[in-house]
Amino acid sequence: MHTGKESKLKIAVLVSGSGTNLQTLIGQLHQDETSGIEIAVVISDRPKAYALARAERASIPTHVVKTQDFENRLDFDAEISRLIEHHTAELVVLAGFMKLFQPPFVRKYRNRIINVHPTLLPAFPGAHPVADTLAYGVKFTGVTVHFVDEGVDTGPIITQAVVPVLDTDDEASLHNRIQVEEHKLYPQVIKWYAEGKLKVKGRKVIVKQ
Ligand code: GAR
Repeated sequence: MHTGKESKLKIAVLVSGSGTNLQTLIGQLHQDETSGIEIAVVISDRPKAYALARAERASIPTHVVKTQDFENRLDFDAEISRLIEHHTAELVVLAGFMKLFQPPFVRKYRNRIINVHPTLLPAFPGAHPVADTLAYGVKFTGVTVHFVDEGVDTGPIITQAVVPVLDTDDEASLHNRIQVEEHKLYPQVIKWYAEGKLKVKGRKVIVKQ
């Protein structure tokens, strides 16, 4: 756990898609000299992820690691771990990364992997959260930022924000409004981590003021 006393916090950002969260982290953290946070590497499991172009534009090192290139998921995880160590990143930030890690990776980075999920967990975990939210008919949804544990979207919750579901919403419109909140919460949580303000006690995360 970062104590907040070290010079700069280096983070690894893992992506699979468009990378709007990555873009926010580049603008609000990486390119702000006062943030004390550097994106040391961006890793994608998909060669065509637009997030890679965003990283390259900001001169951040990128790597593509595809599951198909490995015999099993332990080896895939090990390659990602090797790259994280190579770039000396301390915190692993999942920003739309759609692969699950095996338990050894989660244990190695216990309380050092964070994820952003577009629902109020524990509602609607998994791969189609916004579609599931609309299909269920809930009136409020939102964003959850949490530490990653061995389960699917089950780790200790750091913070959440609420977003109302409108009768007129489709998946794209709802996801867009959720992302507005994601882009506020995610940089804030990484700053808290860098300042040593996050304390995990069992399932609870306390944000020290
Ligand atoms: C984000 O909305 C994030 O919450 C979601 O993927 C999107 C990635 O968007 N993550 C998950 O669903 C993880 N289970 P982005 O590529 O534009 O940042």
